[in-house]
Amino acid sequence: MAVLELANISKHFGAIQAVNDVSISLQAGEVVGLMGDNGAGKSTLVKMIAGNYRPSHGTMRMNGGELVMHRPIEARQHGIEIVYQDLALCDNLTAAANVFLGRELHRGVGPLRVLDYKSMYRRAGEIFKELKSETRPRDLVKQMSGGQRQAVAIARTMLSEAKIVLMDEPTAAISVRQVAEVLNLIRHLRDRGIAVILISHRMPDVFDVADRVIVMRRGRKVADKAIATSSPEEVTGLITGAIEQV
Ligand SMILES: Nc1ncnc2c1ncn2[C@@H]1O[C@H](COP(=O)(O)OP(=O)(O)OP(=O)(O)O)[C@@H](O)[C@H]1O
Ligand SMILES: [Mg+2]
Repeated sequence: MAVLELANISKHFGAIQAVNDVSISLQAGEVVGLMGDNGAGKSTLVKMIAGNYRPSHGTMRMNGGELVMHRPIEARQHGIEIVYQDLALCDNLTAAANVFLGRELHRGVGPLRVLDYKSMYRRAGEIFKELKSETRPRDLVKQMSGGQRQAVAIARTMLSEAKIVLMDEPTAAISVRQVAEVLNLIRHLRDRGIAVILISHRMPDVFDVADRVIVMRRGRKVADKAIATSSPEEVTGLITGAIEQV
């Protein structure tokens, strides 16, 4: 059974039809590259899956059950995690504090309840180790490279038992070596059976790590096929409209 099923999803903002009648099915342990030109509707689509926007039309199902969300926290409760385009990390905090932001661990009870830093550092360390990331829990985020920041953002998604991780342009602003690291992080998620939707403008990244590619143009889905049966040339044509649809 598909972990996530979108049926005829649309979203309009006033007169703007950002997403138009899109149906997608996502399997566990699958990496799907979501591509399309600026304004094609990619971010709007994943924001609906992440509970940021409610679809104007259509239904979403997760493991067969209908998914109706009013707030992002509800998506998280369903095991849907999103890494935003701007990462949304707190520069002045440590890696561990960012991983646990908004879901800090406590010890003690009642008035004696305090933050359990020791456990948070330990758990964050375990996650970075599992991700094979060099990041240390006590490192300050403001001193980190773009790739390390990505590792922190991805570690956040691993705290909960995530089933679906949505990534909006994770490799847009980082160096070549760091891109390789981020792609490895995505493979780790996939190997844990997590389904990943990777929004990217970078053709090599999608052809490197994705099992399937979905192309959107002006709000519509114009292609949805196995990477092995497509090519960068075809996808470029679909993005620009030189190829209408496949
Ligand atoms: N909150 C909003 N209010 C009004 N219009 C919006 C809003 N969010 C997105 N749009 C519009 O919806 C369309 C799709 O935008 P979206 O951000 O989903 O595109 P995208 O594919 O993610 O583009 P990019 O590659 O530039 O990030 C655009 O025309 C955009 O201007
Ligand atoms: Mg976007």
